[in-house]
Amino acid sequence: MLIIRTIADLSSYVASLRADNRSIGLVPTMGALHDGHISLVKRAVADNDSALVSLFVNPVQFNNPADLESYPRSEEQDFKLLAEAGAAAVFAPSVEEIFPEGLDASPRKSFDLGQAAEVMEGKMRPGHFQGVAFIVEKLFRLCLPTRAYFGEKDFQQIAVIRNMVRSEGIDVEIVPCPILRADDGLALSSRNALLSPEQREVAPEIHRALADSIEYSLTHSVRATHDSVVERIDAVPHLKVEYFEIVDGRTLLPVDEWEESPWVVGCITVYCGDVRLIDNIAYRKPQESA
Ligand code: PAF
Repeated sequence: MLIIRTIADLSSYVASLRADNRSIGLVPTMGALHDGHISLVKRAVADNDSALVSLFVNPVQFNNPADLESYPRSEEQDFKLLAEAGAAAVFAPSVEEIFPEGLDASPRKSFDLGQAAEVMEGKMRPGHFQGVAFIVEKLFRLCLPTRAYFGEKDFQQIAVIRNMVRSEGIDVEIVPCPILRADDGLALSSRNALLSPEQREVAPEIHRALADSIEYSLTHSVRATHDSVVERIDAVPHLKVEYFEIVDGRTLLPVDEWEESPWVVGCITVYCGDVRLIDNIAYRKPQESA
């Protein structure tokens, strides 16, 4: 597996792939890789001639400096896992390579990310999605991927990236991939490494509450289902719901009735101690988006 550190080297590598008419599958990551990431890489390997992975902890998508500081990093181990998964190359640039004029001085354009970027994570983490759009657009322009792979744990991120791709006129297929879970149901996340043993023990209650709420939702209103999930999770030591929104899976706007949309998703963010965990569950899902 090729390890690429500079934009110049990345551009010539991508040009050589393109010259050979090879399809490129891109998996953008921030490293600290787990089986969820590896499942995206394996999918990219299976679907494309070359799978390219980016590994960059993108400072401009962190609205909280402490969160950026504590974000887990394990580059050597990540490279090993990527090579085993069959990635052709990994692009792992320095912050200086991406922001040559310095973090604050490097100009950044403002993207049209639509309404989907204004709700939930957009409300709680001002500037987060503009930061995500900045790096993802840059990666798309540099890597010229045929397909790009994103995990459905970040359900809102996928919708926002689709909006960015549409507004920027970028020709790439966005491939959403299912959430991978630990045996006890906790959604795999790089942030799980930050949980204490006590926190790790209670964190699966987030998924259990969501999973149980599917049956509850069959005989209860959206509001009652919402409240039952929040009450159950908030009753667990270490856990505090930041938001739980039951939304239309297409627009990400809240629904009041189950019948309002063929695609209804519950999106949740929970603090487990200081660690911010996200998850989601589909209450209704049309066949074509399954
Ligand atoms: O989902 C992530 O890990 C990040 O938001 C992404 C897409 C790699 C951009 O930094």
